[in-house]
Amino acid sequence: MARVLSGIQPTGEMHLGNYLGALRTWAVEQYENDAFYCIVDLHAITVDFDPAQLASRTIDAAASLLAAGLDPAQCTIFVQSHVHEHSELAWILQCAATMGELSRMTQFKQKGTTTESVRVGLFAYPVLQAADILLYDADRVPVGDDQRQHLELARELSRRFNARYGDTFVIPEATVPPIGARVMDLQNPTSKMSKSSRSELGTIMMLDDPAQIARKLRRAVTDSGSEVTYDPAEKPGVSNLLELLAAATGSVPADLASGYHSYGALKNAAAEAITELLRPVRERFAELSGDPGEIRRLLSDGATRAGGVAAATLSRARDAIGLLAP
Ligand code: TRP
Repeated sequence: MARVLSGIQPTGEMHLGNYLGALRTWAVEQYENDAFYCIVDLHAITVDFDPAQLASRTIDAAASLLAAGLDPAQCTIFVQSHVHEHSELAWILQCAATMGELSRMTQFKQKGTTTESVRVGLFAYPVLQAADILLYDADRVPVGDDQRQHLELARELSRRFNARYGDTFVIPEATVPPIGARVMDLQNPTSKMSKSSRSELGTIMMLDDPAQIARKLRRAVTDSGSEVTYDPAEKPGVSNLLELLAAATGSVPADLASGYHSYGALKNAAAEAITELLRPVRERFAELSGDPGEIRRLLSDGATRAGGVAAATLSRARDAIGLLAP
């Protein structure tokens, strides 16, 4: 079985883009692979964060993964900071990465402000991500399109380390899910759906109820004209609705277009399909969040399993660079 690893930040409630682009794929992959899914709390502290909320958000993230269908009997779910090898390998890899290559990371350039005040942790973020991946000998890393460059860095650091110090790490491959990889904002369909969207109406949350979903779709921005056609360049709003409907029903956006004769009908169909898609997720989340003690127990099991794999890899890396064994 192939080893798969991916990670998600515990930054509050997940949205439909997280679900379609990540969690739903993870749930499928857990059956065909040896899968590790990591809640990356150490990545969440690279920008401003609220210490009073970090722990509860981490529990909520775990509840979201479980609600989305991840089964601890099929995959390993754990919290990054519970496995201290992540920080240790990140340091070792920082001693292989260069300022030049990290400066070229587009996500850093977007998030970072001035070199004077930017946190070193934000700069080193992709190296910690590489450590997350390499520690588990991951063959494949399912990620969104925006993470391709970070994956390229992980591959490069793996190759470089192996060439310099001897074969130690697997060279991981990125896999970007074909459907739902790019869920766009309903109010601004040329940019990606995200929590930081200007309008709350633009983002469907994973736990929205049917009335909220219907309202957001009714108000979704469409394009000039009235014909339903799939044309992301000329009709980004309508095309996004078709993509959502297709992702929710397992069909192809272009094939769906001819079935709708008005924007209103398309919006209704999309609202209905997304409501049904998210209904079981919302119900499971409500059940799970009543028992945070059980979630913590599952995370503790996950950390034990993950820690076993991580410790073996870290020890290989330590030996390769000649650190004295303790
Ligand atoms: N940077 C990723 C994101 O923002 C999250 C992440 C951290 C990750 N570590 C990872 C993804 C390891 C895949 C593998 O989406």
